[in-house]
Amino acid sequence: MTHNVTTTPLWNKLSDHHWEVAATHLRELFDADPHRGEDLNVTAGDLYIDYSKHRVTRETVGLLLDLARAAGVEHHREAMFTGEHINTSEDRAVLHTALRANPERELILDGQNVIEDVHAVLGRMGEFTDRVRSGVWRGATGERIRTVVNIGIGGSDLGPAMAYRALRHYVDGPEVRFVSNIDPTDLLSNLTDLDPRTTLFVVVSKTFSTLETMTNASAARRWITGALGEDAVPRHFVAVSTDTARVTDFGITADNMFGFWEWVGGRYSVGSAVGLSVMIAIGRERFTEFLGGMRAIDEHFRTAPLESNAPVILGMLGVWYSSFFGADSRAVLPYANDLARFPAYLQQLTMESNGKSVRADGTPVGTFTGEVFWGEPGTNGQHAFHQLLHQGTHLIPVDFVGFTEPVEDLPTLDGIGSMHDVLTANLLAQSKVLAFGRTEAEIAEDGTPAELVPHKVMPGNRPSTTILGTKLTPSTLGQLIALYEHQVFVQGVVWGIDSFDQWGVELGKTSALELGPALWDQGGAPEVGDSSTASLIRLYRRARKE
Ligand code: F6P
Repeated sequence: MTHNVTTTPLWNKLSDHHWEVAATHLRELFDADPHRGEDLNVTAGDLYIDYSKHRVTRETVGLLLDLARAAGVEHHREAMFTGEHINTSEDRAVLHTALRANPERELILDGQNVIEDVHAVLGRMGEFTDRVRSGVWRGATGERIRTVVNIGIGGSDLGPAMAYRALRHYVDGPEVRFVSNIDPTDLLSNLTDLDPRTTLFVVVSKTFSTLETMTNASAARRWITGALGEDAVPRHFVAVSTDTARVTDFGITADNMFGFWEWVGGRYSVGSAVGLSVMIAIGRERFTEFLGGMRAIDEHFRTAPLESNAPVILGMLGVWYSSFFGADSRAVLPYANDLARFPAYLQQLTMESNGKSVRADGTPVGTFTGEVFWGEPGTNGQHAFHQLLHQGTHLIPVDFVGFTEPVEDLPTLDGIGSMHDVLTANLLAQSKVLAFGRTEAEIAEDGTPAELVPHKVMPGNRPSTTILGTKLTPSTLGQLIALYEHQVFVQGVVWGIDSFDQWGVELGKTSALELGPALWDQGGAPEVGDSSTASLIRLYRRARKE
């Protein structure tokens, strides 16, 4: 249980300090401290992280780190890494860091070295991957596997789907598709041009009971057995799960199952067997590099002093804006088209983790918690929502993510620089304009008509972080993932919440199961308890009858 820092003098001090900083423009902060651009940055693995364009002074950073210390971030971090049951509401350890730990390390949990278990599964995944990629593993008719379809949802989909897209450049194995939604169009549109003889399904579900996944998996099973017969199932289905009994009940043998453990949360699971489809696509060596990237940030997070600890600093900046400025959201804008699914991935990681309003002991959190994460790749977002970022009334801190080296590049129309250079120039321009804006006086100087001046004023003072990686590789992707995972952790500790449960999604699931019969039962008035839902069900039934 963490100490409730929101009731401490330090919290009050930060609160008072916030008013001073809030009254100061980033232009003034840079004028008063001209070297902040050189100093307020941190390096973690291959990531250079500039946080100088935040609405903080050096004193603010010191106070935020004091708050992290007071909340016990260092103590809780060690508790996580060593397997204490920090997921208190489910009484579980939280050990996604063990998934990428060095094989030489040992971590005993309930008498078992979990790192040995992790590497045993990674070894089996690697062998299976090699067999699929080399064509040793064949479908029931003897054909090679050409397409892998990952069926899963939430953490059993978003991580591998994001990583597959992000690492598109490195894919040299079968194509992978991802089916998650219970909307049948998802499965149907993905299967439409596939050949059952060359298709392998990877059914991914920690519980192997999630409605969407099990429904899609059953439909996929019918698709295979309809074309190839019942005996084809073992050649066309493998499973990733923690529940052997349910997997075997579905008809997938334990040999074709890749396990993980209850101490891996779904949204933290991409480095486990949940990443199997990614491994098949990029090969086991590249997947090892991906895990190595995560490990580099784990080590940084565990050992770097708080003053140079990237997840701690970025996590505390998130606390600063949420809890003291009352900011609701954070935009994550990757200037890398291949990271298109990264914001969606972060939505589950951050919002399912920290979207809580009670502390771990069940008492109300006494401050704003959680950040709404959203975003799109640059430069697309510039032509969509950046208007609001620049001139709107909301305070929305931004994380820019870019790379110094492209994975692919082309010359520009005028031959000056390359397309990647222009992309990066846009990233830097956006963070500059957000921070410093353009004043009324500067605009008037241009001879802009007076009535247009207010429309053209760019207020600036809009904070951002710039994360510059060397190149989008499996390793840097792993680093980015771990960088955000640990920010979530830091914030959870400071807010005193259990970042590793997700009770808030359960009621919706059971309610959908309860409402289902009312939709297809055409007789009688729907007994659903409220007039709005009942009216909508009547309308739906009428439409379905026609
Ligand atoms: O939506 C809730 C949730 O439990 C997520 O936390 C999880 O990632 C997802 O459902 C899928 O769960 P499973 O892997 O058990 O199918």
